[in-house]
Amino acid sequence: MAARLGASLSFLDWMQQVQTGMETVLDRFLPPLSVVPARLHEAMRYTALDGGKRVRPLLVYAAGDVFDTPLPLLERAAAAVEMIHVYSLVHDDMPCMDDDALRRGKPTVHIRYDESTALLVGDALQAQAFDTLSAPLAAELGAADAGMPARQLRMLNLLAQAAGSVGMCGGQAIDLASVGMTLSLSELEQMHRLKTGALLRAAVLLGALGGKALTAEESAALDDYARAIGLAFQVVDDILDATADSATLGKTAGKDAADNKPTYVSILGLGESQALAEKLRGNAHQALAPFGDKARRLRELADLIVQRKA
Ligand code: IPE
Ligand code: IPE
Ligand code: MG
Ligand code: MG
Ligand code: MG
Repeated sequence: MAARLGASLSFLDWMQQVQTGMETVLDRFLPPLSVVPARLHEAMRYTALDGGKRVRPLLVYAAGDVFDTPLPLLERAAAAVEMIHVYSLVHDDMPCMDDDALRRGKPTVHIRYDESTALLVGDALQAQAFDTLSAPLAAELGAADAGMPARQLRMLNLLAQAAGSVGMCGGQAIDLASVGMTLSLSELEQMHRLKTGALLRAAVLLGALGGKALTAEESAALDDYARAIGLAFQVVDDILDATADSATLGKTAGKDAADNKPTYVSILGLGESQALAEKLRGNAHQALAPFGDKARRLRELADLIVQRKA
């Protein structure tokens, strides 16, 4: 996918180009239906293809723009982080977690298939993510492959930490343990940073890690950006759960209040949550100052994350 050829495109056209291209990229890295067990592979494709905003892949490509990361590596990083994300959604929707019937405008995997398939789809997508990102790239990159295995190792390590018990899984554990509780603001922030922020941060850093070496200042600035948009994303998810409808969201609206989950809306109220998201958008923009015009897509994505309606 020629994401970088899109420098002259409007943000919307660039976003659509990445979203459309991701279908091809994911199709390439998911096991085909012709491979046994066909039903598991069909369910993986059912949930991973044709849906979602693809915010994490968009962040990978946008960060890759700043640091000139080779396209074959960007594609794999984008697919890997999206696969981890989709796996997290499949498990998040299962009866033992949020018990949701609708996702991306379609029946959830445990409804369309069954619970054991949903469990295995998540397991298999997680493994497929690491398979995709760890594959040898010499044939695709030629001479540019020098040093790639070492970069891939750092990327794999980053993704593993973001997905695991000190990242997304840890946040999900806190989320489930917090039902019916009133969390302090710092406890709520920690939950959100782990369950959602960690993977969004990883998407930004993965896009950068495959490219030009970063100075310590660039690394710190990019991390500030990634943390700001990571937290903002879940603050807005909480706001939309309380304010949007199911048809717009493609998932059941009002579920957080129905399940008695502590959220930014339940703890800060709607107005203060919106003000916080706006403040985080400002922080994200500020963090990008050292990167100048090359960070245009990252800036536009910070706006999208905070101003989105779904
Ligand atoms: C929803 O993520 C779950 C959270 C982490 C808040 P997205 O809003 O990115 O879901 P899709 O990928 O667009 O379906
Ligand atoms: C889910 O948070 C975060 C992960 C899937 C890791 P939510 O439970 O708020 O996500 P939605 O609202 O169901 O998409
Ligand atoms: Mg949840
Ligand atoms: Mg949920
Ligand atoms: Mg939610």
